[in-house]
Amino acid sequence: MTPNKIIARFILGMALAAAPAAPAAWAQQSHIGSLTGDAHTGQQLYRRYCVGCHGPKGDGKGENAPYVVGPLGDPPPRNFTTGTYKCRSTPSGSIPYDSDIFNTISRGVHATYMPSWAALTPQQRANLVAYIKTFSNRFKNEKPDPAIAIPAETAATPDSIARGKELYQNTLKCGECHGAAGHGDGPSAPTLFDNLGNKLPPYDFTSGLRFKCGETDRDLYLIFLSGLDGTAMPSYADFLKGDQAWDLVHYLRTLQDHSPNAGKK
Ligand code: HEC
Ligand code: HEC
Repeated sequence: MTPNKIIARFILGMALAAAPAAPAAWAQQSHIGSLTGDAHTGQQLYRRYCVGCHGPKGDGKGENAPYVVGPLGDPPPRNFTTGTYKCRSTPSGSIPYDSDIFNTISRGVHATYMPSWAALTPQQRANLVAYIKTFSNRFKNEKPDPAIAIPAETAATPDSIARGKELYQNTLKCGECHGAAGHGDGPSAPTLFDNLGNKLPPYDFTSGLRFKCGETDRDLYLIFLSGLDGTAMPSYADFLKGDQAWDLVHYLRTLQDHSPNAGKK
């Protein structure tokens, strides 16, 4: 990193650290890079684009909500009043950063009815983040924990894949839920619900190259350490040492039918 970049990061860090000093105003705003989102403008956008699924009160009870909940466990629209988010760069139990919510809105949630809103301008998406946060007092009363650090990715060698397989199949028993081949059909799968009582089966790794919370190896790494809060998918932050999370990433890629590493296990 050049000295200029370090200074720029420092100034950004100071700005972020200073932001929560005025909690009331902060809760009505969002800060994503150089963007400041405004909740009032966000409300108008929400009423136009989001209300049908997420509902006027943000409780996930929009008039279309019953139609997006499938018998196979398609998740209902998020209830924003609990302040619980699946896709975060923060440890389990923490609220997300504004940028986490912004990224989810931009990306959509793969394999669910939550579409990508990348067609809206970045400013509009920032305004939506500011508004969505007003549904939960957690954003007024809590600060997000520091983001999880992601070390440089190790090489996806056959050894790394083999170590990941051992973790998945034996040490951490991911297959209990996800199934030995990653189809989401492990013995515990039929018994899994989210924290609001909706049936929620484990993710089927063979369903594509993307995950709910992103598609890069770094996104995948983060999922193991953050967990998907509000679901049965726990955080493994206390169990994964050193490069083990990268070993798991490399092994999971072999379970994806269309990955360049498919079948290398
Ligand atoms: C067609 C229905 C539908 C519409 C319209 C919709 N959503 Fe969603 N949204 C969902 C569903 C379903 C989920 C839950 C996905 C899951 O739990 O895996 C969700 C989840 C989310 C999440 C939570 C992600 C997380 O990390 O937990 C956010 C944020 C979100 N939506 C924002 C929005 C915004 C902003 C709009 C409007 C611009 C919008 N949604 C419009 C269906 C919808
Ligand atoms: C107790 C059951 C359970 C165990 C054990 C479990 N998972 Fe999960 N996992 C789930 C559920 C349920 C979901 C889907 C959550 C959702 O759709 O919101 C999930 C989702 C995932 C996802 C998809 C995340 C995304 O963004 O789409 C990955 C990757 C994952 N699990 C990896 C693992 C790995 C690796 C292990 C072992 C270290 C593991 N899981 C252990 C239940 C479990």
